[in-house]
Order: sequence, then C-alpha cells, then structure tokens
Amino acid sequence: MNNILGLPLCYGDLSEYYDALSQGDDNSKNQIIEKTLREHQVETVLDLTCGTGAQVFWLAKHGYNVTGADFSPALLKIAQDKARKENNGIPLIEGDMRTIEVGHFDAVITMFNAVGHLTKPDFEKAMRNIHSNLKEGGLYLFDIFNLNAMSDEAVNNLSMDITKTIHHTKIHNIQHSKLDRKCGRLTSCDQFSIQEGSAKPKTFEGNFTLQIYTAEELREMLTRNGFETLGQYGLDGSEFSDMETENILTVARSCHLPHK
Ligand SMILES: C[S@@+](CC[C@H](N)C(=O)[O-])C[C@H]1O[C@@H](n2cnc3c(N)ncnc32)[C@H](O)[C@@H]1O
Repeated sequence: MNNILGLPLCYGDLSEYYDALSQGDDNSKNQIIEKTLREHQVETVLDLTCGTGAQVFWLAKHGYNVTGADFSPALLKIAQDKARKENNGIPLIEGDMRTIEVGHFDAVITMFNAVGHLTKPDFEKAMRNIHSNLKEGGLYLFDIFNLNAMSDEAVNNLSMDITKTIHHTKIHNIQHSKLDRKCGRLTSCDQFSIQEGSAKPKTFEGNFTLQIYTAEELREMLTRNGFETLGQYGLDGSEFSDMETENILTVARSCHLPHK
C-alpha cells in the first residue's frame, strides 16, 4: 500500500476493529447511493475502495451486480471472509484505485472519504483510471469533506472518544484532528488502547492526513478528467450548502476525455 499521506491504523494492524469503529449500522449513506444508482438505471457497480464491504454487501442485497476492490489486504480479507460466509460470489480484488483495471461498469463508487487518502495529483490519476473502468456515460459517486464548511468548530466536532467491547476485547479510541486550511489537509491523531480480557492494555498511536476539497475544486478536477458533474449533495441526499454541508456527495457522469 503506497500512500504518502499516511493511513489509519485500522486499515492495517488494527483492521479487525475497523467495522466496530466505523459508522456501525447506519445505512442512510447506502440508501442515498442506492437511490441514485436506481434513478440512473445502473446494474453493474465497481466499488474501488470497498474496505470491509459496507457498500458492496448492501448493494448486492439490493439486486446490483457488484465487484469490490481495495488496496488494504487486511480490510479486503475481512470482506472476503464475509463474502465466503454469505456464499454470495461477490468478486473482491486487491488493487489500487489509481491503476486497477477491472472492466467496464455502469457505475464506480469510492465512499467514506476514501479519495481523501490521495494527494490531489493522485486523485486526478484515479479519476482517469475510474473513467477507463466505466462504460461510456457511466456514473462516478464519491464523498469527501467540504473544505469550505470545515469551521474550527466543525473540525473540533470530528474529535472522537469511543469505547467498544467486542468478544471480550475492550477498544478505546481517541482521535483529534487539525486542519491546514491553506493546503486543505486534515490531519488526525489516533490513539488506541486494546485490552483483551483482563490482560494489560496494548497502546497504539498513529497519524494520518486527508486531502479535502471545495465543491468547486472537485467540479473543476472532474471536468479536466473526462466527467461532467450531475449534482452535489449532502451525504443524506440533502441540498448542498457550500458553507454548511460537511460532506460533499458528488455524482458525475463520464464523457469524452479532453485532449491534453
Ligand atoms: C474510510 S475507508 C472506506 C471503506 C468503505 N467504503 C466503507 O464505507 O467502510 C477508505 C478505504 O479506502 C481504501 N483506499 C485508500 N486509498 C486507496 C487506493 N489508493 N486504492 C484502493 N483503495 C484505497 C482504504 O484501504 C479503505 O478501505
């Protein structure tokens, strides 16, 4: 996994806790994705940042022909184990969204701030690769934090202090973030304490950075890389407000790549 912005510990060493520490059972994001795909008569979907499968399994259950890919072997293995248990035959492939070639799909998705792990030039490279994994006129759906809505208060509100117990293991995760507004980079410091039964807790600490964007910047990047933006929304499908909507859900359609 080649990534210069640093990655969260739960994509690697602490992957077994990813599901417990991410959004839980809230399916509102999946519902809006599904509604958008349905409106555009999508049948085949490629999730290029499937992680442990939060969108892949939901979409497959709702009748879509889904393929998942991710560059974290640890997260992908969890998704593969789930697919094996469900015997659902979903292809789950290891690969990098900047380079992987899977086929030609009606839609590609990269959800839950996944593109924030890429630098700006790498996101543009990923856009061109997404373009070549789509059928002509195919859809690209993704979400990312909105730089214009990240007030100091909003950044503070991203702080987390959560404790969860799974199978006698107590996980305590504290996370604080700070934003470099000039370059739009949000850096989070993660601290974990993992206690198995009554054993001494093990502690882990790591930083990772997300590149975040304004809605206008995303539209410009999409245009440069062969997409037209069909709409930008809140993650619940609400109308987009440039200064208030904290996550931008962008829906784009592939068109002719501009000549370089
Ligand atoms: C926040 S997780 C989201 C996973 C899943 N979509 C979800 O909603 O739970 C971001 C995912 O992006 C993946 N990722 C980051 N950079 C990637 C890249 N260059 N190529 C493929 N996957 C990448 C990570 O491994 C991780 O699984």
